[in-house]
Amino acid sequence: MKTIGVLTSGGDSPGMNAAVRAVVRKAIYHDLNVYGIYQGYSGLMTGNFKKLELGSVGDIIHRGGTILYTARSEDFKTAEGQRQGIEQLKKHGIEGLVVIGGDGSFKGAQKLSEQGIPCIGLPGTIDNDIAGTDYTVGFNTALHTVIDAIDKIRDTATSHERTFIIEVMGRHAGDIALWAGLAGGAETIIIPEIEFKLSDVVGRIKSGQQRGKKHTIIVLAEGVSNGMDFAKLIKEETNLDTRVTVLGHIQRGGNPTAFDRVLASRLGGRAVELLIEGKAGRAVGMEQNKIVDYSFDEVFSLPHKFDESMYKLSQELSI
Ligand code: F6P
Repeated sequence: MKTIGVLTSGGDSPGMNAAVRAVVRKAIYHDLNVYGIYQGYSGLMTGNFKKLELGSVGDIIHRGGTILYTARSEDFKTAEGQRQGIEQLKKHGIEGLVVIGGDGSFKGAQKLSEQGIPCIGLPGTIDNDIAGTDYTVGFNTALHTVIDAIDKIRDTATSHERTFIIEVMGRHAGDIALWAGLAGGAETIIIPEIEFKLSDVVGRIKSGQQRGKKHTIIVLAEGVSNGMDFAKLIKEETNLDTRVTVLGHIQRGGNPTAFDRVLASRLGGRAVELLIEGKAGRAVGMEQNKIVDYSFDEVFSLPHKFDESMYKLSQELSI
């Protein structure tokens, strides 16, 4: 293998730049040429490529977003879109690809691998919803952002003795809500993995009030409901002064934490090694602090890991 490419795809996440840097520098260290493919699979189809040098990835390890830009491409899901992408890769002599993104991005990488372009997936998403890794790149930074917001909301919630619903991202997964809820001392955490009973939520609010709590913080995963609808339910049942904060895309930005930078660097380095070893159709990850890799088939068929004991603990600690 002489030349590889790297792209970022799907929703951006803090630490993607650190991953791009690791891929580029590791490849150059091993005397490979590296092309940056801009705008994800959209740029792959149109040939939006640029050869990257050591300096191209200087001064980016600490930056959020992705210098390669990103996109969600519907066209690349079609056979014709993939044919165009493969044609561009061949034209540039690119023999292997590192795809940084979430599970949708991995599906595209699997298609390319099946059609003779070796691809390695690197999990980059704030959602932490990919099997085969304990953490995805960006999750840790997003958590810090959410916790910072919860801490601030707690101040005003206490002053006004209010109930706050804080809606967080995560798509169909509840990891952001669960971890941030536990770290932020939320009274209630509502996630897609555990069915909630309105009577329980209301009961927790009321018992908290009875023993003198000045506020209630409810962290709600977007995969369950939107914040306004949920607040309406609570208001109808309790008649409490209730407010909603939707954190939205603020969760996707910001400088990556040290954890995300290190994770991205380790995964990026390993992804290049796998390509050099002639591996294809696999995703890198980290389990119990060891760098691992699984076939895309395994990643898609393994269940999304959910730590029910952590949820139980969060309930026990917020009585
Ligand atoms: O997958 C990352 C994510 O931020 C999800 O948490 C969220 O549901 C979605 O992307 C939002 O996507 P968009 O930026 O396209 O609105």
